[in-house]
Order: sequence, then structure tokens, then C-alpha cells
Amino acid sequence: MLRLRAPAKLNLFLRVLGKRSDGYHELETLFERIDLADDLTFQKQPQGITVTCDDPNLDCGPSNLITKAAALLQRSCGVSCGASIHLAKRIPIAAGLGGGSSDAATTLVGLNQLWNAGLSLPQLRELAAQLGSDVLFFLEETAFAIGRGRGEVCEPLKGTPPTVWHALVIPPVPLSTKDIYGGFDGTTGRGLTGSTASVTMLVHALRNGSLRELAEGLFNDLQPEAIRRCPVIEEIQRCLLASGCLGTMVSGSGPSVFGLCQDQSHAETVASDVRKDGLPSWRIAVVKTDGNY
Ligand code: C5P
Repeated sequence: MLRLRAPAKLNLFLRVLGKRSDGYHELETLFERIDLADDLTFQKQPQGITVTCDDPNLDCGPSNLITKAAALLQRSCGVSCGASIHLAKRIPIAAGLGGGSSDAATTLVGLNQLWNAGLSLPQLRELAAQLGSDVLFFLEETAFAIGRGRGEVCEPLKGTPPTVWHALVIPPVPLSTKDIYGGFDGTTGRGLTGSTASVTMLVHALRNGSLRELAEGLFNDLQPEAIRRCPVIEEIQRCLLASGCLGTMVSGSGPSVFGLCQDQSHAETVASDVRKDGLPSWRIAVVKTDGNY
């Protein structure tokens, strides 16, 4: 039996550069791996792929990214052996935290090992790109990376990463990534923004360990559309700022919102303030950069 963690991500920066002819959007994004993680266990079985999950809300059928990743790897390597995969779900679903993509990447890595399939990292990357835009990032052994293209170009940031602390708040409103991108395309009158924020500024801030600069550079082109569909995001952001967060932003296509904190004790104070002042349905967590890489 093999047991692996599948960590979540935040997008500290996400700029949409334009729409591509394949229907996807050209992006420039900065990923941060965080220590909120799903747990996956893999076991060989004579044939077939069986996926189970401790969360009854998750569909474990053919549309699940774990099932898709396992089937893709099996087909690509001509493996006849099967596997049973159990997911302990900790990352909220459809929240902008990349949980499904991380599960898919971990499935590729786990089954490559379990089945002795022998695929190299570049070969795994090719499969990852077929599964989804964020899957590639989770194959990289790095805490921070810049994503480009539709996400299939991933540039890890080398060097010892700083540990960044966040208060993370997730309202119970699942948002579909496809719908958020669809809304961004002009139905709301919000086209490409003219902001001058840049990913270079954030990379510089991380290298200097400057939280102030990091806070100033937080940016997400998808935030306005996420707020339009989930207006409570604005209230969450007010709570986070009132509690002293240096900056706050929606992650990915939302609705998760993170507040940038000074350190662990500040993040814990912010989380307890938001628990007191916010709605009981909000999920609130203290998370930090996943420094295992
Ligand atoms: O790649 P993934 O399956 O995560 O994307 C989900 C949906 O989000 C896509 O079907 C597409 O509508 C939208 N998307 C996009 N441009 C991206 C990433 C995602 O338009 N770069």
C-alpha cells in the first residue's frame, strides 16, 4: 500500500492575457503550494480502477480527475494491473484551491510507482497537461512556481522559499472554473484589466522576504467575476482586513479568499476574529507555504 499527500495551492497572482483559439485563456500566474492537503492511498488489484472517497459529495465515477488520471496512465503504459484508490478529502471542492488537480497529479506519481510503470518526469508532465491546467504545477517539487500558457508551462522558483502565513476563508458556494472564465469574457462588461501589477514584482518580494511588497502585488483578474457570483467574498475581505491582514485576494476562480498575515500567531488571531465576526457557514483555516519541497 502506498500513501501520498496531495497539497492545495493558492494563486498569489493571476492575470488573464487573452482568449485562445482552443477556448482556453492565456494566463500568467504565481502558484504557492500550501499545507492543506488531501490524503491518497493506493493498492494494487488484479484489474480495473476503483476510486472511493470519505466525502459523499464527491463523484468518484469516470468524471473524477483521479479516475481519469489512472485510466490515462494505464492506457499510456499498457499496464494490465488495476488499483484501488482511496481519497481522504480535506481540500474543499470547487473552491479555487486546486484540490482535484492535485489529486490527479498525485495519482500519476503514485500509480507510476505502484505499477513500476517507469515513466520519467517529462512523460508524466505530458499526461498531466492532458488532465487539466493546474495539474502540472503539482508535479513540480517546488513551493512556488510561475504558470503560463493555459497552465501547461510551469517555471519553478528555485532557492529556499520563505514561509508565508495565511488565514483562509471558504464560503459554502462552489464556483465552476468554466463559468467564471465564461463570465470574465465580457458578459459582465469586465474585460481585461489595465492593472500594472506584475508577477516579477511578486517574485522579487518572495526573494526579499518582503511581506509588504507581496501584499501590494496580490492580483487576480477572476476576482470581480467571483464576487459577482458570490458577493459574500467582499464581506470576508472586509473581515480579513479589519483583523490586520496585509492584503487579501480570491484564489483561482474562487470562492476561497486568503488573507496575508505577518506570522503564525497573527494568522491564528485573524482566524479566531473571523470565526467570531463572520458567518457560521464559512470554513476558516490557518495555512502556510508547504515547505516540504
Ligand atoms: O483545465 P481545467 O479543466 O482546470 O479548466 C476548467 C475550465 O476552465 C476549462 O474548461 C475552461 O473553460 C476554463 N479555463 C480557461 N483557461 C485556462 C484554464 C481554465 O478558460 N487557462
